[in-house]
Amino acid sequence: MRPIFATIHLGHLAHNYQVMKSQAGDSQMMAVVKANAYGHGLLPVSETLFAQGCRSFAVTDALEGKILREGLRSKDSEHIEIAVLSGIFDPEDADLCQRFLLSPVLSERSQLSLLNAANFSGNVWIKVDTGMHRIGAEDVTSFCQAISETPIKLAGIMSHLACADTPDHDLNQQQIQSFEAIQQITNSPRYSLHNSAGLAAFKAGASSTNITVRPGLALYGAEPMMEKPLGLKPVMQLSANIIQIRPIEAGDCVSYGATWQAETPTHIAVVAAGYADGLPRLLSNQGWVKHHSGRLPIVGRVCMDYCLLAVDASQVKTGESVIFFGFDHGAPLANDVAELAQTIAYELFTSISPRVQRLYLEDGGHRR
Ligand SMILES: Cc1ncc(COP(=O)(O)O)c(C=O)c1O
Repeated sequence: MRPIFATIHLGHLAHNYQVMKSQAGDSQMMAVVKANAYGHGLLPVSETLFAQGCRSFAVTDALEGKILREGLRSKDSEHIEIAVLSGIFDPEDADLCQRFLLSPVLSERSQLSLLNAANFSGNVWIKVDTGMHRIGAEDVTSFCQAISETPIKLAGIMSHLACADTPDHDLNQQQIQSFEAIQQITNSPRYSLHNSAGLAAFKAGASSTNITVRPGLALYGAEPMMEKPLGLKPVMQLSANIIQIRPIEAGDCVSYGATWQAETPTHIAVVAAGYADGLPRLLSNQGWVKHHSGRLPIVGRVCMDYCLLAVDASQVKTGESVIFFGFDHGAPLANDVAELAQTIAYELFTSISPRVQRLYLEDGGHRR
């Protein structure tokens, strides 16, 4: 097998859950495990969070909800909430919600009709738009009324902050006020607005028994606000092995487009990691990796299956590991790598492709 690994530290995940729980105070935690737990593995992540006391999870769609419900079957499954953030799109989704006790987040009346047609009598959330102008129900009070005329139960009302990672942005206060106004005119058992950055920035507003907070990113150990760190620990470490070391002469160029030229005779280490693994191509000629000898620069363009490092051949050997981002001392942080690649840690994590082997570490760093 190609020697490229995403090592997932479940002990760090558990730590991060407890950090966010203490931020959340009296409110309930809904762990956002959508998109295969941001690329970390839906079931190992959810099982670890369950062991930490988490009983509410948010997935992307009904199919992901079914996988989670089946995966948690051995647990006290009926008391586990699985919210489906993208709602439902067709009768099959409605049927999955009915069969697997999922709680879809609705933003359209037509979704209610689909659920009724599937004889669904479980819980739903309503999504309202408070200023992000993404999805949201138009008239929340009449939506609540329509639900009350069916066997379906209202679990809560949620909205999403557009600029939580920029706490001073005017839109935050507008959205918070607009959500509070909705709380005044509706009578819902629960309300939910805060994601990771929202919880870090507006902790006070998030602490109440009828509030549910929805952290995702922070659980995976990327600080939602670098300038206000919460003491989170990176959960994913991306590493790969050096598979060949070759000498090049001064003036030789490397990789596609010959964008990097050696000024002096040197060595090139070929690493089994490329953009088809999720390594951003924008790291070409600007990223670096951690090796036990120190930092090594990525030179030339990142290829589909390989990237290249300029190395001192006396310091590196074929078969040795290099780290692109992760938790080892001195390894780059996902947030920093994402910035170099003009993206965000969310995209970095969720882009790590299925062909990258996932290895799981328990607390204390023992292999699972
Ligand atoms: C509706 C919703 N809630 C919560 C989250 C979690 O956000 P974060 O990962 O920033 O904590 C997301 C993430 O995109 C989301 O779309």
